[in-house]
Amino acid sequence: MSYNNILSKVTNSINTIIINRPNKLNALNKETIKELHKAFKAAEEDSEVKVIIVTGSGEKAFVAGADISEFADFDVKEGKKLSAKGHDILFDFVENLSKPVIAAVNGFALGGGLELAMACHFRVASDNAKMGLPEVSLGVIPGYGGTQRLPNLVGKGRAMEMIMTAGMIDANQALTYGLVNHVTTQEELIPLCTKLATKITNNSSVAISAAIRAINANYTDGINGFDIEIKEFGNCFGTEDFVEGTTAFLEKRKANFPGK
Ligand code: COA
Repeated sequence: MSYNNILSKVTNSINTIIINRPNKLNALNKETIKELHKAFKAAEEDSEVKVIIVTGSGEKAFVAGADISEFADFDVKEGKKLSAKGHDILFDFVENLSKPVIAAVNGFALGGGLELAMACHFRVASDNAKMGLPEVSLGVIPGYGGTQRLPNLVGKGRAMEMIMTAGMIDANQALTYGLVNHVTTQEELIPLCTKLATKITNNSSVAISAAIRAINANYTDGINGFDIEIKEFGNCFGTEDFVEGTTAFLEKRKANFPGK
């Protein structure tokens, strides 16, 4: 598939998706959001893909936010629609993907950029990264899940401060907050993400999908995460991966998971 605003390639079961609008600091315009949806959907459906890494092109930005020029003249109805559609086709979509998504935060991750990184399953940052939700400085609030996912990741007080001040935190502060799992140099960012992704590809993709559903259940209103865990745990016993994983252990060999 070819895109105007993103690049997508698969190597060794790892699909790297690069948001490619460096002149606009990779800001998410409507077309980019649609293309990201298509690329994530294609990754989900491609049996060759086991892990997805998403990053920004250039050395300056992961994503500097939603494209402000596209919504500056919106009214209330259009604002609601913009937010709802974004949740639906990108942010919730990524969070609920059955394959692991790692955000390689290579620079500014602001507004919708940080919201995209937070929708990913975990985050790794380069030491030049800067993260924040500056929306209140524009007279709006985060509308792509930021008010919900940031408190879940860093705690309510820190999220309140970040959102109210509209300030940015650096990579080390983000590490202290638990917003990112690792900080490395810009040069080592993709190699480190690839190393983590490769480690993931060695495990059962069926079990990993079940783990994503069970973990996400903890953050879904009206659902008891423990009940989902019991159901997903039980279902694993009916998979070929479970048979292979346990047999390989007992035979003292490395498992070769069929992914079924
Ligand atoms: N939407 C649209 N365009 C954006 C953008 C965004 N969120 N963020 C950056 N850009 C564009 C700039 O308008 C500029 O385009 P131009 O060269 O055609 O004028 C280009 O990207 C480079 O950005 P610039 O502001 O010149 O870079 P900088 O190094 O001086 O500042 C930032 C970097 C990230 C601090 C600054 O771009 C910024 O504050 N961006 C907006 C962040 C934001 O509020 N995001 C939340 C949106 S809801």
